[in-house]
Amino acid sequence: MIRFPQDFIWGASTASYQIEGAWQEDGKGPSIWDNFCHTAGKIADNHNGDEACDHYHRYPEDVALMRDLGLDAYRFSTAWTRLFPQGRGQPNSKGCDFYDRLIDSLLDVGIQPWLCFYHWDLPQALQDKGGWTARDIVYWFADYAGYVAEQYGDRVEHFLMLNEPGSVAFLGHLLGQHAPGLSDINAFLAATHHQNLAQGLALKLLRELNADWQLGTALNLQPAHAVSESEEDQQAAKLFDTFANRNFLDPLLLGGYPALSQGLLEPYVKNDDIAAIKQPLNFLGLNLYTRFLIQANSSSLMGISQAPPPADAELTDMGWEVYPAAMYEQLMNLKEKYGNPAVYITENGAAFADALNHRGQVNDTRRIRYLESHLAATQKALAQGANVKGYFVWSLLDNFEWAEGYHKRFGLVYVDYADKQRIPKASYTWFNKLICKGGFTLSQLDS
Ligand code: FCB
Repeated sequence: MIRFPQDFIWGASTASYQIEGAWQEDGKGPSIWDNFCHTAGKIADNHNGDEACDHYHRYPEDVALMRDLGLDAYRFSTAWTRLFPQGRGQPNSKGCDFYDRLIDSLLDVGIQPWLCFYHWDLPQALQDKGGWTARDIVYWFADYAGYVAEQYGDRVEHFLMLNEPGSVAFLGHLLGQHAPGLSDINAFLAATHHQNLAQGLALKLLRELNADWQLGTALNLQPAHAVSESEEDQQAAKLFDTFANRNFLDPLLLGGYPALSQGLLEPYVKNDDIAAIKQPLNFLGLNLYTRFLIQANSSSLMGISQAPPPADAELTDMGWEVYPAAMYEQLMNLKEKYGNPAVYITENGAAFADALNHRGQVNDTRRIRYLESHLAATQKALAQGANVKGYFVWSLLDNFEWAEGYHKRFGLVYVDYADKQRIPKASYTWFNKLICKGGFTLSQLDS
Protein backbone atom coordinates (compact mmCIF):
# COMPACT_ATOMS: atom_id res chain seq x y z
CA MET A 1 0.00 0.00 0.00
CA ILE A 2 1.28 3.47 -0.92
CA ARG A 3 0.36 5.62 2.08
CA PHE A 4 0.27 9.36 2.65
CA PRO A 5 0.46 11.29 5.93
CA GLN A 6 -2.79 11.64 7.88
CA ASP A 7 -2.94 15.40 7.42
CA PHE A 8 -2.20 15.23 3.69
CA ILE A 9 -4.70 17.42 1.80
CA TRP A 10 -6.61 15.81 -1.06
CA GLY A 11 -8.17 18.20 -3.52
CA ALA A 12 -9.25 18.98 -7.04
CA SER A 13 -8.61 22.10 -9.14
CA THR A 14 -10.60 24.05 -11.70
CA ALA A 15 -10.44 27.52 -13.26
CA SER A 16 -13.14 30.13 -13.76
CA TYR A 17 -13.05 30.45 -17.55
CA GLN A 18 -12.81 26.71 -18.07
CA ILE A 19 -15.98 25.83 -16.17
CA GLU A 20 -18.21 28.76 -15.30
CA GLY A 21 -19.85 29.84 -18.58
CA ALA A 22 -22.36 32.70 -18.02
CA TRP A 23 -19.86 34.91 -19.80
CA GLN A 24 -22.14 37.93 -19.91
CA GLU A 25 -24.34 37.33 -16.94
CA ASP A 26 -24.98 39.51 -13.90
CA GLY A 27 -22.79 42.33 -15.08
CA LYS A 28 -19.64 40.37 -15.91
CA GLY A 29 -17.26 42.27 -18.19
CA PRO A 30 -15.32 40.81 -21.13
CA SER A 31 -12.01 39.10 -20.52
CA ILE A 32 -9.17 38.45 -22.95
CA TRP A 33 -10.32 34.84 -23.18
CA ASP A 34 -13.87 35.85 -24.18
CA ASN A 35 -12.44 37.92 -26.99
CA PHE A 36 -9.75 35.45 -28.02
CA CYS A 37 -12.30 32.65 -28.35
CA HIS A 38 -14.65 34.87 -30.30
CA THR A 39 -11.92 35.50 -32.87
CA ALA A 40 -12.27 32.91 -35.61
CA GLY A 41 -9.40 30.46 -35.98
CA LYS A 42 -7.88 30.76 -32.51
CA ILE A 43 -9.48 27.72 -30.85
CA ALA A 44 -10.05 24.20 -32.16
CA ASP A 45 -13.40 24.20 -33.97
CA ASN A 46 -13.92 27.75 -32.76
CA HIS A 47 -15.12 26.49 -29.40
CA ASN A 48 -15.48 29.03 -26.62
CA GLY A 49 -16.18 29.26 -22.90
CA ASP A 50 -19.52 31.08 -23.24
CA GLU A 51 -21.31 28.18 -21.56
CA ALA A 52 -18.48 25.84 -20.59
CA CYS A 53 -19.77 23.48 -17.87
CA ASP A 54 -22.37 26.04 -16.77
CA HIS A 55 -20.85 25.82 -13.31
CA TYR A 56 -22.12 29.35 -12.62
CA HIS A 57 -25.62 27.89 -12.38
CA ARG A 58 -24.81 24.28 -11.52
CA TYR A 59 -22.32 24.86 -8.72
CA PRO A 60 -24.60 23.22 -6.09
CA GLU A 61 -24.47 19.99 -8.08
CA ASP A 62 -20.70 20.32 -8.46
CA VAL A 63 -20.21 20.91 -4.75
CA ALA A 64 -22.31 17.81 -4.06
CA LEU A 65 -20.00 15.85 -6.39
CA MET A 66 -17.01 17.13 -4.45
CA ARG A 67 -18.62 16.18 -1.15
CA ASP A 68 -19.31 12.65 -2.35
CA LEU A 69 -15.78 12.44 -3.70
CA GLY A 70 -14.55 13.16 -0.17
CA LEU A 71 -12.36 16.16 -1.02
CA ASP A 72 -10.59 18.04 1.76
CA ALA A 73 -10.07 21.09 -0.43
CA TYR A 74 -11.17 22.63 -3.71
CA ARG A 75 -9.01 25.02 -5.68
CA PHE A 76 -10.89 27.42 -7.96
CA SER A 77 -10.20 30.82 -9.44
CA THR A 78 -12.20 34.02 -9.37
CA ALA A 79 -13.02 35.61 -12.72
CA TRP A 80 -11.57 39.12 -12.39
CA THR A 81 -14.26 40.53 -14.73
CA ARG A 82 -17.11 39.13 -12.64
CA LEU A 83 -15.83 41.14 -9.71
CA PHE A 84 -14.52 44.17 -11.60
CA PRO A 85 -16.05 44.20 -15.09
CA GLN A 86 -13.52 46.79 -16.24
CA GLY A 87 -10.67 45.42 -14.12
CA ARG A 88 -10.72 48.37 -11.71
CA GLY A 89 -13.19 50.83 -10.24
CA GLN A 90 -16.54 49.80 -8.83
CA PRO A 91 -16.95 46.13 -7.87
CA ASN A 92 -19.92 44.26 -9.33
CA SER A 93 -21.98 43.04 -6.38
CA LYS A 94 -23.77 40.28 -8.28
CA GLY A 95 -20.45 38.81 -9.35
CA CYS A 96 -19.21 39.00 -5.77
CA ASP A 97 -22.36 37.19 -4.60
CA PHE A 98 -21.59 34.22 -6.81
CA TYR A 99 -18.32 33.44 -5.02
CA ASP A 100 -20.01 34.08 -1.67
CA ARG A 101 -22.52 31.37 -2.49
CA LEU A 102 -19.85 29.01 -3.79
CA ILE A 103 -17.61 29.47 -0.74
CA ASP A 104 -20.50 29.05 1.68
CA SER A 105 -21.68 25.88 0.04
CA LEU A 106 -18.15 24.42 0.15
CA LEU A 107 -17.86 25.23 3.84
CA ASP A 108 -21.28 23.73 4.50
CA VAL A 109 -19.97 20.35 3.39
CA GLY A 110 -16.60 20.68 5.09
CA ILE A 111 -14.44 21.45 2.03
CA GLN A 112 -11.70 24.09 2.33
CA PRO A 113 -11.95 26.70 -0.44
CA TRP A 114 -8.54 27.49 -1.98
CA LEU A 115 -8.94 30.67 -3.98
CA CYS A 116 -6.66 31.59 -6.88
CA PHE A 117 -6.87 35.22 -8.03
CA TYR A 118 -5.72 34.73 -11.57
CA HIS A 119 -6.18 31.81 -13.90
CA TRP A 120 -5.64 33.69 -17.14
CA ASP A 121 -8.93 35.57 -17.75
CA LEU A 122 -7.54 39.11 -17.63
CA PRO A 123 -10.09 41.93 -18.05
CA GLN A 124 -10.05 43.13 -21.67
CA ALA A 125 -10.17 46.70 -20.35
CA LEU A 126 -6.75 46.13 -18.77
CA GLN A 127 -5.41 44.39 -21.86
CA ASP A 128 -6.36 47.54 -23.75
CA LYS A 129 -3.96 49.40 -21.46
CA GLY A 130 -1.15 46.92 -22.22
CA GLY A 131 -2.10 43.99 -19.97
CA TRP A 132 0.91 42.15 -18.56
CA THR A 133 3.27 44.22 -20.70
CA ALA A 134 2.32 47.40 -18.81
CA ARG A 135 4.19 47.95 -15.58
CA ASP A 136 1.11 49.47 -13.93
CA ILE A 137 -0.53 46.05 -13.93
CA VAL A 138 1.40 45.20 -10.80
CA TYR A 139 -0.75 47.74 -8.91
CA TRP A 140 -3.98 46.78 -10.71
CA PHE A 141 -3.39 43.18 -9.72
CA ALA A 142 -2.44 43.87 -6.10
CA ASP A 143 -5.54 46.10 -5.66
CA TYR A 144 -7.77 43.40 -7.09
CA ALA A 145 -6.23 40.63 -4.98
CA GLY A 146 -6.48 42.77 -1.85
CA TYR A 147 -10.17 43.41 -2.49
CA VAL A 148 -10.97 39.75 -3.12
CA ALA A 149 -9.03 38.62 -0.05
CA GLU A 150 -10.86 41.12 2.16
CA GLN A 151 -14.17 40.14 0.66
CA TYR A 152 -13.82 36.41 1.33
CA GLY A 153 -10.96 36.17 3.82
CA ASP A 154 -13.28 35.71 6.78
CA ARG A 155 -14.03 32.25 5.36
CA VAL A 156 -11.18 31.50 2.96
CA GLU A 157 -7.80 30.81 4.49
CA HIS A 158 -5.78 29.71 1.45
CA PHE A 159 -5.02 32.13 -1.37
CA LEU A 160 -2.97 31.57 -4.51
CA MET A 161 -1.73 34.64 -6.33
CA LEU A 162 -1.21 33.40 -9.90
CA ASN A 163 -1.66 30.26 -11.93
CA GLU A 164 1.29 29.33 -14.13
CA PRO A 165 2.85 32.70 -14.96
CA GLY A 166 5.23 30.74 -17.18
CA SER A 167 2.37 29.56 -19.38
CA VAL A 168 0.95 33.08 -19.57
CA ALA A 169 4.32 34.42 -20.69
CA PHE A 170 5.10 31.60 -23.17
CA LEU A 171 1.73 30.68 -24.64
CA GLY A 172 0.08 34.09 -24.43
CA HIS A 173 2.95 36.44 -25.23
CA LEU A 174 5.59 34.47 -27.17
CA LEU A 175 3.82 31.69 -29.07
CA GLY A 176 0.47 33.44 -29.54
CA GLN A 177 -1.48 30.25 -28.83
CA HIS A 178 -3.33 31.64 -25.83
CA ALA A 179 -4.94 35.01 -25.10
CA PRO A 180 -3.91 37.74 -25.63
CA GLY A 181 -2.33 36.02 -28.66
CA LEU A 182 0.95 37.94 -28.83
CA SER A 183 4.17 36.66 -30.40
CA ASP A 184 6.68 39.18 -29.25
CA ILE A 185 9.87 38.60 -27.31
CA ASN A 186 9.61 41.95 -25.54
CA ALA A 187 6.04 41.24 -24.47
CA PHE A 188 7.22 37.84 -23.25
CA LEU A 189 9.99 39.33 -21.11
CA ALA A 190 7.77 42.11 -19.76
CA ALA A 191 5.00 39.63 -18.90
CA THR A 192 7.53 37.44 -17.09
CA HIS A 193 8.80 40.21 -14.86
CA HIS A 194 5.49 41.99 -14.30
CA GLN A 195 3.78 38.79 -13.18
CA ASN A 196 6.58 38.11 -10.71
CA LEU A 197 6.35 41.64 -9.37
CA ALA A 198 2.53 41.66 -9.23
CA GLN A 199 2.68 38.43 -7.28
CA GLY A 200 5.23 39.92 -4.87
CA LEU A 201 3.17 43.05 -4.21
CA ALA A 202 0.01 41.02 -3.67
CA LEU A 203 1.78 38.65 -1.27
CA LYS A 204 3.12 41.58 0.75
CA LEU A 205 -0.23 43.35 0.86
CA LEU A 206 -2.14 40.25 1.93
CA ARG A 207 0.43 39.40 4.57
CA GLU A 208 -0.09 42.87 6.04
CA LEU A 209 -3.86 42.54 5.90
CA ASN A 210 -3.98 39.25 7.75
CA ALA A 211 -1.00 37.33 9.06
CA ASP A 212 -3.07 34.15 9.44
CA TRP A 213 -3.84 33.69 5.78
CA GLN A 214 -1.98 30.88 4.03
CA LEU A 215 -0.42 32.41 0.95
CA GLY A 216 1.08 30.77 -2.09
CA THR A 217 1.19 30.73 -5.86
CA ALA A 218 0.98 27.98 -8.49
CA LEU A 219 3.95 27.51 -10.83
CA ASN A 220 4.23 25.01 -13.65
CA LEU A 221 7.65 23.50 -13.23
CA GLN A 222 8.21 20.66 -15.63
CA PRO A 223 11.80 19.42 -15.84
CA ALA A 224 13.58 20.25 -19.10
CA HIS A 225 15.71 17.39 -20.41
CA ALA A 226 18.11 17.66 -23.32
CA VAL A 227 17.32 15.19 -26.07
CA SER A 228 21.00 14.25 -26.41
CA GLU A 229 24.37 14.62 -24.71
CA SER A 230 25.51 17.15 -27.30
CA GLU A 231 26.75 20.50 -26.02
CA GLU A 232 24.12 22.36 -28.12
CA ASP A 233 21.18 20.32 -26.84
CA GLN A 234 22.39 20.57 -23.25
CA GLN A 235 22.67 24.33 -23.59
CA ALA A 236 19.20 24.55 -25.20
CA ALA A 237 17.66 22.61 -22.30
CA LYS A 238 19.37 24.91 -19.82
CA LEU A 239 18.02 27.95 -21.61
CA PHE A 240 14.53 26.51 -21.72
CA ASP A 241 14.67 25.64 -18.03
CA THR A 242 15.74 29.20 -17.32
CA PHE A 243 12.88 30.86 -19.19
CA ALA A 244 10.12 28.37 -18.36
CA ASN A 245 10.97 27.44 -14.77
CA ARG A 246 13.77 29.32 -13.10
CA ASN A 247 12.64 32.81 -14.15
CA PHE A 248 9.69 32.28 -11.81
CA LEU A 249 11.19 30.08 -9.14
CA ASP A 250 14.50 31.85 -8.57
CA PRO A 251 13.32 35.42 -7.93
CA LEU A 252 10.55 34.16 -5.64
CA LEU A 253 12.58 31.70 -3.57
CA LEU A 254 16.22 32.70 -4.06
CA GLY A 255 15.91 36.44 -4.65
CA GLY A 256 17.23 36.97 -8.17
CA TYR A 257 16.93 36.02 -11.83
CA PRO A 258 19.21 33.27 -13.15
CA ALA A 259 22.41 34.48 -14.81
CA LEU A 260 21.25 33.35 -18.27
CA SER A 261 18.22 35.66 -18.32
CA GLN A 262 19.40 38.66 -16.33
CA GLY A 263 20.61 40.59 -19.37
CA LEU A 264 17.38 40.22 -21.31
CA LEU A 265 15.18 41.08 -18.33
CA GLU A 266 17.27 44.05 -17.28
CA PRO A 267 15.25 46.71 -19.14
CA TYR A 268 12.16 45.75 -17.13
CA VAL A 269 13.69 45.39 -13.68
CA LYS A 270 13.60 48.68 -11.77
CA ASN A 271 14.52 49.97 -8.33
CA ASP A 272 13.70 47.48 -5.61
CA ASP A 273 11.81 45.00 -7.78
CA ILE A 274 14.01 42.05 -6.91
CA ALA A 275 13.50 42.54 -3.18
CA ALA A 276 9.75 43.01 -3.71
CA ILE A 277 9.40 39.66 -5.50
CA LYS A 278 11.02 37.54 -2.80
CA GLN A 279 8.23 37.29 -0.24
CA PRO A 280 7.76 34.67 2.43
CA LEU A 281 5.37 31.96 1.24
CA ASN A 282 3.29 29.56 3.27
CA PHE A 283 3.38 27.14 0.39
CA LEU A 284 4.38 26.71 -3.21
CA GLY A 285 1.82 25.27 -5.64
CA LEU A 286 3.35 22.87 -8.15
CA ASN A 287 1.57 22.15 -11.43
CA LEU A 288 3.18 19.23 -13.23
CA TYR A 289 2.04 17.04 -16.11
CA THR A 290 5.08 15.82 -18.02
CA ARG A 291 8.69 16.72 -18.79
CA PHE A 292 9.98 18.84 -21.65
CA LEU A 293 12.37 17.19 -24.07
CA ILE A 294 14.44 19.97 -25.61
CA GLN A 295 16.73 20.26 -28.59
CA ALA A 296 18.84 23.00 -30.13
CA ASN A 297 17.26 24.32 -33.30
CA SER A 298 18.90 27.27 -35.00
CA SER A 299 15.82 28.06 -37.09
CA SER A 300 13.45 28.45 -34.17
CA LEU A 301 12.88 31.17 -31.63
CA MET A 302 15.79 31.55 -29.19
CA GLY A 303 17.46 28.56 -30.89
CA ILE A 304 15.36 26.08 -28.90
CA SER A 305 12.58 23.69 -29.81
CA GLN A 306 10.72 20.84 -28.25
CA ALA A 307 11.91 17.45 -29.47
CA PRO A 308 9.43 14.69 -30.28
CA PRO A 309 8.87 12.24 -27.39
CA PRO A 310 10.79 8.94 -27.49
CA ALA A 311 9.26 6.43 -29.90
CA ASP A 312 8.21 4.05 -27.12
CA ALA A 313 6.73 6.72 -24.86
CA GLU A 314 3.11 6.55 -23.78
CA LEU A 315 1.31 9.77 -24.72
CA THR A 316 -1.84 11.36 -23.33
CA ASP A 317 -4.51 12.80 -25.57
CA MET A 318 -2.65 16.15 -25.41
CA GLY A 319 0.36 14.41 -26.97
CA TRP A 320 2.20 14.82 -23.65
CA GLU A 321 4.62 12.10 -22.62
CA VAL A 322 3.57 10.12 -19.54
CA TYR A 323 6.71 10.56 -17.46
CA PRO A 324 6.02 10.18 -13.73
CA ALA A 325 9.71 10.44 -12.82
CA ALA A 326 9.32 14.17 -13.55
CA MET A 327 7.28 14.48 -10.35
CA TYR A 328 9.99 12.89 -8.23
CA GLU A 329 12.71 14.91 -9.94
CA GLN A 330 10.95 18.24 -9.46
CA LEU A 331 10.03 17.61 -5.84
CA MET A 332 13.62 16.63 -5.05
CA ASN A 333 14.88 19.68 -6.95
CA LEU A 334 12.69 21.92 -4.77
CA LYS A 335 13.98 20.14 -1.70
CA GLU A 336 17.63 20.30 -2.59
CA LYS A 337 18.00 23.61 -4.42
CA TYR A 338 15.16 25.76 -3.11
CA GLY A 339 15.15 25.18 0.63
CA ASN A 340 12.48 22.47 0.72
CA PRO A 341 9.41 24.75 0.77
CA ALA A 342 6.02 23.34 1.75
CA VAL A 343 4.60 22.14 -1.57
CA TYR A 344 1.07 21.35 -2.60
CA ILE A 345 0.76 19.71 -5.98
CA THR A 346 -1.94 22.07 -7.26
CA GLU A 347 -2.38 20.39 -10.67
CA ASN A 348 -1.61 16.95 -12.03
CA GLY A 349 -3.75 14.86 -14.33
CA ALA A 350 -4.21 13.65 -17.87
CA ALA A 351 -6.50 13.99 -20.88
CA PHE A 352 -7.67 10.82 -22.54
CA ALA A 353 -10.33 10.25 -25.18
CA ASP A 354 -13.00 9.18 -22.71
CA ALA A 355 -16.30 7.90 -24.00
CA LEU A 356 -19.42 6.50 -22.42
CA ASN A 357 -19.72 2.73 -22.79
CA HIS A 358 -22.98 0.90 -23.53
CA ARG A 359 -23.83 1.07 -19.83
CA GLY A 360 -23.34 4.82 -19.79
CA GLN A 361 -20.11 4.57 -17.78
CA VAL A 362 -16.61 5.86 -18.40
CA ASN A 363 -13.97 3.29 -17.59
CA ASP A 364 -10.91 5.54 -17.64
CA THR A 365 -8.27 3.05 -16.56
CA ARG A 366 -5.46 4.94 -18.28
CA ARG A 367 -6.20 8.02 -16.18
CA ILE A 368 -6.16 5.91 -13.02
CA ARG A 369 -2.79 4.49 -14.00
CA TYR A 370 -1.47 7.96 -14.77
CA LEU A 371 -2.58 9.27 -11.37
CA GLU A 372 -1.24 6.21 -9.55
CA SER A 373 2.17 6.52 -11.14
CA HIS A 374 2.45 10.21 -10.30
CA LEU A 375 1.31 9.64 -6.75
CA ALA A 376 3.80 6.81 -6.36
CA ALA A 377 6.54 9.23 -7.51
CA THR A 378 5.23 11.81 -5.03
CA GLN A 379 5.36 9.26 -2.25
CA LYS A 380 8.93 8.34 -3.14
CA ALA A 381 9.96 12.01 -2.82
CA LEU A 382 8.04 12.31 0.46
CA ALA A 383 9.88 9.31 1.86
CA GLN A 384 13.14 11.07 0.99
CA GLY A 385 12.21 14.22 2.85
CA ALA A 386 10.45 16.36 0.24
CA ASN A 387 7.99 18.65 2.02
CA VAL A 388 4.83 17.71 0.11
CA LYS A 389 1.61 18.53 1.92
CA GLY A 390 -1.16 17.75 -0.51
CA TYR A 391 -2.31 16.86 -3.99
CA PHE A 392 -4.99 18.46 -6.18
CA VAL A 393 -6.01 16.56 -9.26
CA TRP A 394 -6.62 18.44 -12.51
CA SER A 395 -9.52 18.39 -12.88
CA LEU A 396 -12.81 17.82 -11.13
CA LEU A 397 -14.78 18.09 -14.37
CA ASP A 398 -14.07 17.78 -18.07
CA ASN A 399 -13.89 21.40 -19.17
CA PHE A 400 -12.84 23.96 -21.75
CA GLU A 401 -9.20 23.14 -22.44
CA TRP A 402 -8.03 26.51 -23.83
CA ALA A 403 -6.78 26.30 -27.44
CA GLU A 404 -7.98 22.68 -27.62
CA GLY A 405 -11.58 23.62 -26.85
CA TYR A 406 -13.76 20.81 -25.50
CA HIS A 407 -11.83 18.07 -27.27
CA LYS A 408 -9.54 17.22 -24.37
CA ARG A 409 -11.08 15.67 -21.28
CA PHE A 410 -9.18 15.90 -17.98
CA GLY A 411 -12.02 15.36 -15.51
CA LEU A 412 -12.73 12.78 -12.86
CA VAL A 413 -16.29 13.59 -13.90
CA TYR A 414 -17.41 13.32 -17.52
CA VAL A 415 -19.44 16.24 -18.85
CA ASP A 416 -21.92 15.77 -21.65
CA TYR A 417 -21.69 19.20 -23.23
CA ALA A 418 -25.04 18.87 -25.01
CA ASP A 419 -27.08 18.76 -21.82
CA LYS A 420 -24.35 19.50 -19.25
CA GLN A 421 -24.98 16.23 -17.48
CA ARG A 422 -22.22 15.14 -15.07
CA ILE A 423 -21.22 11.47 -15.03
CA PRO A 424 -18.54 10.39 -12.53
CA LYS A 425 -15.85 8.27 -14.22
CA ALA A 426 -14.13 5.20 -12.78
CA SER A 427 -11.28 7.50 -11.69
CA TYR A 428 -13.74 9.38 -9.46
CA THR A 429 -14.57 6.21 -7.56
CA TRP A 430 -10.87 5.30 -7.45
CA PHE A 431 -9.94 8.75 -6.04
CA ASN A 432 -12.71 8.53 -3.46
CA LYS A 433 -11.35 5.20 -2.19
CA LEU A 434 -7.84 6.59 -2.07
CA ILE A 435 -8.98 9.56 0.03
CA CYS A 436 -10.93 7.32 2.41
CA LYS A 437 -7.98 4.99 2.93
CA GLY A 438 -5.22 7.64 2.84
CA GLY A 439 -3.43 5.70 0.14
CA PHE A 440 -3.79 3.06 -2.51
CA THR A 441 -2.51 -0.27 -3.68
CA LEU A 442 -1.09 -0.17 -7.19
CA SER A 443 -3.85 -1.63 -9.31
CA GLN A 444 -3.40 -4.44 -11.74
CA LEU A 445 -5.41 -2.64 -14.38
CA ASP A 446 -5.37 -4.17 -17.83
CA SER A 447 -3.73 -1.97 -20.40
C1 FCB B 1 -2.50 23.78 -17.04
C2 FCB B 1 -3.55 24.84 -16.78
C3 FCB B 1 -4.93 24.29 -16.58
C4 FCB B 1 -5.23 23.14 -17.53
C5 FCB B 1 -4.12 22.13 -17.52
C6 FCB B 1 -4.35 20.96 -18.43
O1 FCB B 1 -1.41 24.33 -17.66
O2 FCB B 1 -3.21 25.57 -15.63
O3 FCB B 1 -5.84 25.34 -16.71
O4 FCB B 1 -5.52 23.62 -18.78
O5 FCB B 1 -2.92 22.73 -17.87
